[in-house]
Amino acid sequence: MHTSTDVFAKVHGHERSELLAAAREADILPYFHVLTSPAMPVVEMEGARRIMLGSNNYLGLTGDERVMQGAEEALHKYGTGLTGSRLLNGTIPLHLELEAEIARWMNTEDAIVFTTGHQANIGTLGTLLAPGDTVIADSGDHASILDGCLLSRAKLRPFRHNRLEKLEKMLDRAQGDGGGVLVVVDGVFSMEGDIAPLREICDLCERYGARLMVDEAHGAGVLGARGAGTAELLGVEDRVDLRMGTFSKSLASCGGFVAGPHDVIEYLRLYSRAFLFTASAVPAALGAALAALRVLNSPEGPSLLAQVLENAKRLRDGLHELGFAVVSPQSLPADIASDIPGVSLDGANRSIVTPIVPLLVGDDWKAALLWKALYDGGVFVNTALHPAVPPGGALLRTSVMATHDEATIAEALDVFARVKREFEAEHGPLPSAH
Ligand SMILES: Cc1ncc(COP(=O)(O)O)c(C=O)c1O
Repeated sequence: MHTSTDVFAKVHGHERSELLAAAREADILPYFHVLTSPAMPVVEMEGARRIMLGSNNYLGLTGDERVMQGAEEALHKYGTGLTGSRLLNGTIPLHLELEAEIARWMNTEDAIVFTTGHQANIGTLGTLLAPGDTVIADSGDHASILDGCLLSRAKLRPFRHNRLEKLEKMLDRAQGDGGGVLVVVDGVFSMEGDIAPLREICDLCERYGARLMVDEAHGAGVLGARGAGTAELLGVEDRVDLRMGTFSKSLASCGGFVAGPHDVIEYLRLYSRAFLFTASAVPAALGAALAALRVLNSPEGPSLLAQVLENAKRLRDGLHELGFAVVSPQSLPADIASDIPGVSLDGANRSIVTPIVPLLVGDDWKAALLWKALYDGGVFVNTALHPAVPPGGALLRTSVMATHDEATIAEALDVFARVKREFEAEHGPLPSAH
């Protein structure tokens, strides 16, 4: 007996296949391009030099001698892989050192290291939440948060990106759901580059008795005097229950963590399936992450943080001057110390530009064409098309490193200027700054 449908049927003629085929045909597909050099401010991709404005290597530490040495020493001491779970044969001293250093850095009682940040999110949300609970998530939250929420089978109540009145409505509704309530937001949103208003979110969580988890994938190693993330920048570290982060961005490696109260972290060590039923990270990844964290925690750390944020501002201001529709600097509360890396003062107003500077294009096809023109001009950026962004909200996501020098950013801006001129002459105006 045969069933009438084939599970493979969906791989042919799915909704993205036509667009994909057309983009391939026109040679404007912005995905899966091959890097043939180290991940540095300037890279080689497909035989040509490109300025890398599409990585998450915020502190530029992937090529740092100390970080490479950390990876090398771990490789030679522990071999290429651990071939097993943290629970059984996969825990080495580097895990314990990392967990202790992360807890110190985040100012929490404890921390747990996962093999990836994605697993940190699904392994935390999928374990702490259960059917009967409610999870309230920002619509801009990372896919791994959504995956964790769905895995948990808790009631999911999403709210419109950064809209506090919508969050409050969901908190109010959740009162009637009958279970525990967790709010989960990104500290810095991975596509928009904007910052969650954590003070107000903490106020609301406290008023409604909800727990709060913040994904600091793009905040840790970027924001705050210690680079401990959005919660540190906004002075709410002691009001956030759990802080998740990744090694795959500022910490120049691969892996993830969750920091919080000891009893919760210990529970995750015993019950989190994404922690227990997967092999632990390769030693080189742990050695690199630990070495990168030590660079960040060294006297050099604040200047690296200042540099990446200064570069972000330089790129944002340059793109804005060229007339691109880029985000405005983020306003910060008036009591934020002005000597924190990246904080700008304009009169009494404080603001910051995160290293994620999206440039709105709108139409998917135009975004792919613009991406290609930049790529051919020697600048690599990321492209976010629907469904990664709402329909008509296609954007090019640019991001800088602390190690981009002024001349390289100026060179990239020259490419943007020329490409914009030529693109608009052929395809009409792009969305403008205002
Ligand atoms: C906001 C956010 N959370 C979680 C992740 C997952 O982290 P990882 O790359 O370590 O799996 C990412 C990045 O991919 C991210 O941008």
